[in-house]
This record gives sequence, C-alpha cells and structure tokens, in this order.
Amino acid sequence: MKKFLLLAIISMFAIVAAACSSDKESSSGSGDGEKDTSSDKPIIIKFSHVTAIDSVKGKAADRFAELVAEKTDGKAKVEVYPSSQLYGDADELDALVSGNVHMIAPSVTKMVKLDPRWQYVDMPFLFKDQDHARKFFESDVAQTILNSDQLNSNDIMGLAFWENGFKHFSNNKHEMKTPEDLKGLKFRAQAGKVLESQFNALKAGSATISFGETYAALQQGTVDGQENTFNNFDTQKYSEVQKHLTVSEHGRLDYAIFVNKSFWDGMPEDIRGQVEEALKEATELEWQLADEENAASFENIKNSGKVEVTELSEEERQKFVDALQPVYDEFSDDITPELLDGIRDLK
Ligand code: LMR
Repeated sequence: MKKFLLLAIISMFAIVAAACSSDKESSSGSGDGEKDTSSDKPIIIKFSHVTAIDSVKGKAADRFAELVAEKTDGKAKVEVYPSSQLYGDADELDALVSGNVHMIAPSVTKMVKLDPRWQYVDMPFLFKDQDHARKFFESDVAQTILNSDQLNSNDIMGLAFWENGFKHFSNNKHEMKTPEDLKGLKFRAQAGKVLESQFNALKAGSATISFGETYAALQQGTVDGQENTFNNFDTQKYSEVQKHLTVSEHGRLDYAIFVNKSFWDGMPEDIRGQVEEALKEATELEWQLADEENAASFENIKNSGKVEVTELSEEERQKFVDALQPVYDEFSDDITPELLDGIRDLK
C-alpha cells in the first residue's frame, strides 16, 4: 500500500514537472505559437484528451505526435496528455480557450457549451451506419459547424473529425430488450439536454458525470448504467462494474480536433502545413482504428464472461426508435432542420 502511494506521488510529480517544463520550452502559455520561431526550441503543442492510451483516440493521438515529429523534423513536438491527466471533460474546453492546452479531441456533444447543434450526434438513430457518419465528416454541412462563428469568436478552430462509433446501453441491474426495461434505471450522461431528454423518453433518470469519474460512479452505484462505444466500455474496464449490455446503436460518439486559433495562426506557415499533413494521416489511421478496435473490443466484452450481451431484432430495435421520437419533437429546432436534413440526405 505504502509502495503504491509512493509510486502515485512520484508519477504526480512527473506529470507536473512535464507540464511545467513544456511551458518553459514553448513559451506559448498565451497560445501564441509564433514566439517559438526565434529559438531552436521546438514548438510544443499540448494535446489533452480523456480516454486511455490504448483507446482509439489514445492510439491515434500518439501516432499523430510521432508524425508531427517526423514531418517537422523535430521543429514541433506534440505532448499528449491522456486519461484526463491535465484536464477532464469539464475543463478541457476552457483550457483550450485560454491557451493552456493547444489541441483537444472531445466527444463533440461536449461542445454543447458553445453551440447546441453539436448535439446532432446524440439524436437517436440519426446515422444509418459507420459510412453514413464518414460521409457526414467529409460533407459541407459538417464544415458549417466545425468552423462556425460560435467557435471562432471563442478563439477556437475545428480541424478534423475523428470517429469512435455507435453507443450502446449498459447497466448492472437487468437485461434490456425493450424500452420499458430502462424504466427507473439511472444512467450516466456525457453532457447536454438532448441526452437528458433521451433518458426521459425512456422513463429513466440521468446524471451528467465526467468520463474520468464514470467508473467510480458505476462501481459505487451512483448510477446504474451508462451508454458508450464498445471500445470505451472495454478500455475503461466497465465489464467489471456492468453486467448487461444491449447492442442498441442508438446514438453516436464521435470526436473533432479543435485548436486554439491564435496559437494555430501564430505558427510558422511551413510548420503549420506539416502539422496539417500529419493530422490528415493520423485522421485516416484513426478512422481505420475506430473500426478495428471497436470490433476487437466487442469480442473482448463477449469473451469476458462477465457481461450478458443482448442483440436486438429489427422489431425490437424499432421499438427503441419509436420510444425516442419525442427527442426529435423537442430538439429538432435547436439542432436545426438544415443540419438534420443535411445529415439525412447523405444516407
Ligand atoms: C465519454 O465521456 O463517454 C466520452 O466522451 C469519452 C471519450 O472521449 O471518448
């Protein structure tokens, strides 16, 4: 126990020291990358995220860092801070706005603070399949929210979409085959009113809990269940605290890469171009990883022997579609018909 405590303290010091030393190296606390050109020191790009290093996002972020080092010949260095080490859900966006980190890759629903349209991702059964989501990422309609006035006026720019996949419901009380089975259960939600409305429509309760605190909330019974992708479920070890998972595919969990705009604009043009190239390559890899890792995680969950996995027939799925219709009645205006129809038209 003492050994563990000592180790924990040493790693805390290491993280703080790393953060401090990169502040010195980059001299970019205000988010201005241009300052670094006068010295030989690399431009430090602090990239904060909340998932595990072995998650889809964790692996892609690390690869992005390697690609930046290669393509800029060491002139720029991406420092990746995974697992909410520096900032959790609640404060990584503020940290980006203030320039304390330069790049984040949040699940897009967490951008609801700045623009309610990001909750498009939670609209029930909006996306038909993974290809539909990818078509959206590459569409003009996606660009309108990725680089909106709401973001730019907060000194933020969206650079790319990263994906994770479809979300599935899980809980530790009983099997969920029909919408009625969720009645009375309490679920962890990521953020925003759309998810609250989704659980209301199912007569279930919900509480907004940050990703970093979700495992403990499930373990302690603060909530009974959660919704996430296979890969997040697997890499967060939710099979230790959730007994039932329904392959519901009722909503999506996808990411976008956001940068602090002043920092980005302040970077020397050639280096910015090379970082952009690295991001393009990392994005292709990320999409591929999303497929592969979610498929592998689904197998891990089934093979864990700890989770009862329920797959739905077409009729059973339709019951969830019908039960969640009220979410559209309540939120179509906020998400905007342009965005919703734009997504549907890509099918
Ligand atoms: C969640 O909070 O469940 C996800 O946003 C975590 C993530 O970033 O994939």
